[in-house]
Amino acid sequence: MCGIVGFTGTKPVKDFLLEGLHNLEYRGYDSAGIALLLDDNSLFIKKRSGAVDVLEDALHETDMPAQTGIGHTRWATHGAPSEINAHPHFNADKSLALVHNGIIENSYVLRESLEAEGYHFVSETDTEVIVHLLDKVYKEREDGDLLQALIDVSKVLEGSYAIVLLSSEHPGELFAVRNGSPLVLAKHDDGAYIASDVIALVSRVKHVITMDNNEFAHLKKDGSVHVYNDKKEELEHIIQELDVNHIPLDNGEYPDFMLKEMNEQPDVIERLGQDRFDAGSIRLDGLNLSDEEIKNTDKIFIVACGTSYHASLLAKNYIENLAGIPVEVAVASEFANQHVLVTDHTLCIIVTQSGETADTLAAARKIKDLGARVFAITNVLGSTAARESDGVIYTKAGPEVSVAATKTFVAQIVAVFFLALFFAEKNGRLSSEEVLSHLKDIQDLSVKLGEVLSKQEDYEKGSRFFAQAHSALFIGRSLNYPIASEGALKLKEISYLHAEAYPAGEIKHGPFALLEPGFPVVVVIPHDDTRAKTLSNIKEIRARGAVVLAVATQGDAEVEENADFVFWVPSVPPLLTPLISVIPLQILARKVALDRGQNVDRPRNLAKSVTVE
Ligand code: G6P
Repeated sequence: MCGIVGFTGTKPVKDFLLEGLHNLEYRGYDSAGIALLLDDNSLFIKKRSGAVDVLEDALHETDMPAQTGIGHTRWATHGAPSEINAHPHFNADKSLALVHNGIIENSYVLRESLEAEGYHFVSETDTEVIVHLLDKVYKEREDGDLLQALIDVSKVLEGSYAIVLLSSEHPGELFAVRNGSPLVLAKHDDGAYIASDVIALVSRVKHVITMDNNEFAHLKKDGSVHVYNDKKEELEHIIQELDVNHIPLDNGEYPDFMLKEMNEQPDVIERLGQDRFDAGSIRLDGLNLSDEEIKNTDKIFIVACGTSYHASLLAKNYIENLAGIPVEVAVASEFANQHVLVTDHTLCIIVTQSGETADTLAAARKIKDLGARVFAITNVLGSTAARESDGVIYTKAGPEVSVAATKTFVAQIVAVFFLALFFAEKNGRLSSEEVLSHLKDIQDLSVKLGEVLSKQEDYEKGSRFFAQAHSALFIGRSLNYPIASEGALKLKEISYLHAEAYPAGEIKHGPFALLEPGFPVVVVIPHDDTRAKTLSNIKEIRARGAVVLAVATQGDAEVEENADFVFWVPSVPPLLTPLISVIPLQILARKVALDRGQNVDRPRNLAKSVTVE
C-alpha cells in the first residue's frame, strides 16, 4: 500500500504534494511526510504520525517556494506507525531522500551487513535499508550516476517496491523504479509528475505513462520524463489519456463516503443492467474468448481477497448452476501455496475492485505461468490486473473512496452473474430469451434497492442493540452464505466488533456453544427454497436465548414472529437475493460503527488497496 507522489518543475510543489497525498490516503493513513529541495540545494524533510491533515497543519506556517519534492502516506508494514518510521527516509548527510511502497523481503540481511559497515539506522523500516544502500553504491561509483546506482541497488533488493528518490546533488530531478508496486508518470509544461496512482495527478494532467515492472524513470524540471530498462536503454511508452473515473470526489451532501456510495447502488445496478439489456443479448466484449474456447472450458479458478472473495463465492454458484462449468474459488494469499492442476482448457478469473491487490496479482501470475489464461473483473481502468490479464470485465461502479466496499461489491455480483449468463448462453444451457429475462430482472432490482436504502431509520433499534455487543454471528445458506460473510466482514471492518459468518446449517457443529441469552445472531433468510431450514435454525437459536436479527422478505409473518428484529427486503427472483440482502447488512455495519464512534470511511489499520503480500 502507501501512496507516493512527486513533482519537479517550475512551480511551487508543496501544495501539489499535499493535495496528491490527500487523494492517495485510501492507500494508507497512519503517517505522512514530504521532502523538498530548497534553493540552497539542501533537503527539507517534514513527517508526522497520523493523517495527511496533521502533516498539513505542521506545514501551515511554512512558506516553501521549493519546486522539486516527494511525498508519502503510509500504511505500516515494518515498524509501528510513528514519525520516525514515516517516509521519506534519508541517508546520514541528508543528501538523499526517498519514499517507498511495498516490502523489501531481504531487508534484515541487508540491514545487518550495512550496520556492520557502520551505517546507523534510525527507524525500524525496511525502507531505510534502501536509502543507506543507495548512499553506499552511489558514493562508491564516484561518477555521480544516480540512475545507475538505483539500477544497481534494485538488483540487490528482493520483494516488491516502487521507489521515488530525491537528491541534493541532482537539483530539479527525480529518480524512480517500479518493481511490483504501481507508478505512473506525466509530462507537462509545468514540469514532470510521478505518483503511485493517477488519482493524485488527475487535477494537474490529462495524460499519463504507466511504468512496467523493472523499469526506471528519470524526471526533469523541464517536464521531460525518460524511462529505462535495467540495462539503461531508453524505452518508448504509450501515453494514455486519463479516464474521468479517476476524478477524486467529495462526499457532497452526505456525512461520509460510505453512505454516499451505498446510496449510489441503485444507479450502479440500473446502469449495468441497461448496458447489457440495450445490447439485445449478453455482451462481454472485454473477455476475448471464442465460443469454442468457452465450450471447451473444463474448469475455472477464481481468486480474490476480502469482499471480492465473497463475490467470487457467488460467481462459483452462478457459473456452476447456470453454465455447468466446475469452479474452484480460492483466497488469493492461500492460492500461492496451493497445488493447482490446470489443463489447456482451464481459465482463471481474478476479482479485484482496485486491480492492485498484491495477493491477487501474485495468484494470477502463478496460474498464468502454469499455462491458464487469466481474466480480470475489476473496477479500475488500466489497473495492473487489467493490464496483466488476457481479458477484462469492468464493473463500472465509479470510484469508491470508503475503505469498506459497498457499491463495487454489488457491481461485482452483477458482473459475475452476467459472466455466468454469458457462458450459459454460449454453452446452450440458456436461450437468448432466458438470458434477456434475467437481464430484465437485474434492471427491476434498482428500484427495490432504492426502497431498502430509503428506510434506514427502521434500523435504529436493531443497530443500537448490536452496538453494545462484543461479538456477533452471521448465518445464511447457499447464495446467502457469502452475503452473511460479507455482512460479518463489513461489521468487523468498520465497527471493530468481532463477527463471524457460518453456513446456517453448520452452526450446530460448534458455534452453538457460543449461544447464550443476549448473544446477537444475524440470519439472512430470503423467501426461497432455503427458507424452511433456516427458519428451523432461527428457532433453535432463539431456544437458547440468543437474539435474532433477521434479514427477511417483506411479509414473512413466520420470520417476524420468531425474530427479535427484522430488516425487511422486497421480494426478488431467487438468484438475485444476494443483491438485495446485502444492503441491510451494509446499513447495519455503518450504523453500529457510528454508534461506537468510529470513522466509517477510514477504519484503523486497513487500506482500500493492499499492495503488499
Ligand atoms: C482490502 C480492503 C477490502 C477489499 C480487499 C480486496 O483488504 O480493505 O475492502 O475487499 O482489500 O481488494 P480488491 O481491490 O482486490 O477487491
